[in-house]
Amino acid sequence: MPPSSMRWPRTPRSMQERNRPEEINKVTFGKIEENKDNKTRSPSPDCPNSSAKGRAAIVFSLKNEVGGLVKALKLFQDKHVNLVHIESRKSKRRNSDFEIFVDCDSNNEQLKELTHLLRKHTNIVEMDPPDENRLAQERLMKDIPWFPQKISDLDLCANRVLMYGSELDADHPGFKDNLYRQRRKFFADLAMCYKHGEPIPRIEFTEEEVRTWGVVFRELNKLYPSHACREYLKNLPLLTKYCNYREDNIPQLEDISRFLKERSGFTIRPVAGYLSPRDFLAGLAFRVFHCTQYVRHSSDPLYTPEPDTCHELLGHVPLLAEPSFAQFSQEIGLASLGASDEAVQKLATCYFFTVEFGLCKQEGRLRAYGAGLLSSISELKHALSENAHILTFDPAVTCNQECIITTFQDVYFVSESFEEAKAKMREFAKTIRRPFTVRYNPYTQSVDVLKDTSSITSVVEDLRHELDIVGDALNRLSVHHGV
Ligand SMILES: [Fe+2]
Repeated sequence: MPPSSMRWPRTPRSMQERNRPEEINKVTFGKIEENKDNKTRSPSPDCPNSSAKGRAAIVFSLKNEVGGLVKALKLFQDKHVNLVHIESRKSKRRNSDFEIFVDCDSNNEQLKELTHLLRKHTNIVEMDPPDENRLAQERLMKDIPWFPQKISDLDLCANRVLMYGSELDADHPGFKDNLYRQRRKFFADLAMCYKHGEPIPRIEFTEEEVRTWGVVFRELNKLYPSHACREYLKNLPLLTKYCNYREDNIPQLEDISRFLKERSGFTIRPVAGYLSPRDFLAGLAFRVFHCTQYVRHSSDPLYTPEPDTCHELLGHVPLLAEPSFAQFSQEIGLASLGASDEAVQKLATCYFFTVEFGLCKQEGRLRAYGAGLLSSISELKHALSENAHILTFDPAVTCNQECIITTFQDVYFVSESFEEAKAKMREFAKTIRRPFTVRYNPYTQSVDVLKDTSSITSVVEDLRHELDIVGDALNRLSVHHGV
């Protein structure tokens, strides 16, 4: 679990530029009205009814209307708010935009009325002192568990390994094998040292490791044509072609990561062992899949008590190359960011019964898409046999099902398609209580936290642009093809 001391930052970004505008001026309109009373009397947010004047700063962006700036400035005049300084600045949030910074003298009552009116014509993006809406938002956000907001933040949580790594339990097949334990330490150290953006270290696998992989690869490949879903069967030959999936070769994570990036935008990150559900799901939000790199113990190639590279490469990777499945996985991850422990547990259970043990129906027959099944010969056979208990995937029901690690699952859940599973997960995610929602920004590989009108407006502007593109495309289609 993340340390409880790591919380959402309560203090708004400081408006440090306010006192040194000369450093950031791009275009300065200058002082448009003399400041008649420039003594320092800061209005206190703790004293909202104070009539004392003090400095306030507002940053706003203009809506797309003619004379927007004039209308906005007129409001200051109407409310007798004394402008001390005004300038336009390049937006910190959206590279292509400019925002208006205003330094003014006002009391709290004036400021409240002014911001109320200002919101009708502008998008207020920052205020100092913060307005009441912002304070209310901060109160809502203060108990939200910390979560990564950009892809490199995963460096902060990818090393919080809960189980295994180099420490093996007494019932682990490799517990008494000192050489194996040393090898595991080697892999654990590699993963712990890894940082976002670095190439994943290439491994020279031992003959014993390749032999173990070879047994698993050979036996599973006998079952895939009759047991794996069509998306899996489509992608497996591509992995043979581009990533050297062969019985006598263990593919390298770096090659797979590059391949996935081109196919679905997913990348791989090496990990030493089990992460907490919160940390693991957070990776999915950024289309990052945490992958172990070690090979199971050679004494029993068809059994492993933990995920190993055979499970990751044969179970997970072929489906991660599928865009619809990648989207489904990412949405579970996005829903988990900042969610309560209870909600994360429910999402992790849904993940377990879909991404790990999910079934789907294709051409009237059951097929497996879960990696736990596609990397286990005995359970793959069992799940598609008459002995398995199968229910329709319903996140509200599935999230309460017990996950079994040591033996076969009591029940498996079937979906018609990834699209259907995704639609159901989307509805389920809406029931998770969070004072915000998040949206992935693929350009910056970060999540936008949508918690106020300005962040939502920004999304609307993006959508408007996307719709413009669609409209343009349709116009061209009708001109050139007469459609
Ligand atoms: Fe897995």
